[in-house]
Amino acid sequence: MAKHPLPALRRRILAWYATSARDLPWRATRDPYRIWVSEIMLQQTQVETVIPYYRRFLRAFPTLKFLASADIDDVLKCWEHLGYYARARNLHKAAGIVLRENGGRLPKTADALAALPGVGRYTAAAIASIAFGQDAAALDGNIRRVLCRLFRIQGDTRDTKIQQQLWALAAELLPLGRAGDFNQALMDLGATICTPRSPACARCPVARHCQARRHMQQDELPKINRKKPVPHYRVAVGIVHGKAANAGRILMAKRKADALLGGLWEFPGGKIKRGEKPADAAAREIREEIGIEVQVGPRAAVVRHAYSHFRVTIEAFHCKHTSGRPRAIACKEIRWLRPPEIRHLAIPKASDKIFKALGRLPLSPAGALLPNSIVLLSCDSPGRRR
Ligand code: ADE
Repeated sequence: MAKHPLPALRRRILAWYATSARDLPWRATRDPYRIWVSEIMLQQTQVETVIPYYRRFLRAFPTLKFLASADIDDVLKCWEHLGYYARARNLHKAAGIVLRENGGRLPKTADALAALPGVGRYTAAAIASIAFGQDAAALDGNIRRVLCRLFRIQGDTRDTKIQQQLWALAAELLPLGRAGDFNQALMDLGATICTPRSPACARCPVARHCQARRHMQQDELPKINRKKPVPHYRVAVGIVHGKAANAGRILMAKRKADALLGGLWEFPGGKIKRGEKPADAAAREIREEIGIEVQVGPRAAVVRHAYSHFRVTIEAFHCKHTSGRPRAIACKEIRWLRPPEIRHLAIPKASDKIFKALGRLPLSPAGALLPNSIVLLSCDSPGRRR
């Protein structure tokens, strides 16, 4: 540490931030609620992707009280396609807790903030420092990279010891009384100059302090173990067309709250077993999930989607409801809906692709099965952070 003149380093970083800070909507407010919303959205998602969601969310839920009293389905709808939906559920839950237990005022310290659902160590420190001026050091992916390079941390950043070392460094470096600006300065430095690949050292305000650069290791650090290959699943779903009173309607299933994509609506279905025909899998999954029999017809769409930890290929089949009364066996709720009504539900990106593909096809008249029509689509989660 003696090698690093910390006061000079702090000064340069803060001076650079004073002239080069990104103009971001959550920086134009001191409202802790708005800062909290921004930090939750930014947890897994890049700044550019977050901005329109952030604006829309705050128009819909301008205060913590508004959010706490909102219906979770409306909150999820506003979060639709931003991904990592547990963030929205936790935000809603935490708003309720803060309203009931603290009169609607967010706690000011990092420790108290970290007790709220969805607020981890980094987010707590970011909110405490930015919204309340607390001297809390934050460490996210961008800051971790900056510190690893500045201080030439050579170990694997997933290692607990290295993590502890980085948190300690972040705390030591923090200029007391300026933590909010300083944390955000390091975030911006990591996002705009000290980037994962080809860092722009020539523009870096602290290049002369950078140990990695001195040793020409800026492209090697931080060291991150290769991720395991992501598994790939094949999924079959049914576009179940209703009969009699439900003619012209499609059956949608709401996922259980605690599941991945919890609370979102999708076409019923599930994983295809090894050796199973996709159409058979659709019928079996529909039977297990909602307790009805269907006749599986032509395939309507094939959709590929990449989640954070796995990839799926979803085959969607038109299905005719033949017998049984649908029940929410392996889902939270079911509804027969006309296509325009489906638009009002929060549905995952992959299901939305299937839904949009249907719009390009002639919809089945009551119970009839359509000619084979295949639309191949790919989609990725929006702006995921590395
Ligand atoms: N990433 C997480 N929090 C951020 C913030 N306040 N500004 C910019 N990027 C961020």
